[in-house]
Amino acid sequence: MKESTQTALRAAAVLGVAFGLCVTGLTAADAKNPIKDAMQKYHKAPKGTDPTCKKAGAGQASKEELAGMVAAYKAMCASKPPQGDQANWVKLCSALANATASLEKGDAGAADKYKAAVNCKTCHDEFRPAKK
Ligand code: HEC
Repeated sequence: MKESTQTALRAAAVLGVAFGLCVTGLTAADAKNPIKDAMQKYHKAPKGTDPTCKKAGAGQASKEELAGMVAAYKAMCASKPPQGDQANWVKLCSALANATASLEKGDAGAADKYKAAVNCKTCHDEFRPAKK
């Protein structure tokens, strides 16, 4: 009896720690969402200024901006969208990352490739939850 009470207590303690870790993990993931980060940083801009994605499509983004975008898009590939098909998600994000890498290298036709890949609506329709 005494033995089993101890075991039960120990199990409860282990579970408690595991639960605490889980909750911490979730909060951290929420605070740092690679998808939102990429959207805020590269697809959005203060009123009156061009977002980086627009500059990229026009061939006017700097090397630094393009390198940052490639990294941000790769982080998106590695993350899970709030909804939609994961395989299709990876496909869209990879297309974005690849097109941006082509821009960085200065490949011919890279801007058109990028503009096709960065289609906001195509991606949002499937992967961005509808506004409540
Ligand atoms: C490859 C997919 C993809 C493309 C392309 C894309 N988005 Fe998004 N975007 C998302 C997803 C997924 C979310 C929802 C993220 C969430 O709620 O966790 C989102 C959310 C956003 C948000 C809200 C961010 C926030 O903090 O809640 C903005 C703003 C945004 N997108 C702008 C754009 C614009 C502008 C374009 C086109 C130039 C664009 N996005 C192209 C996938 C994409």
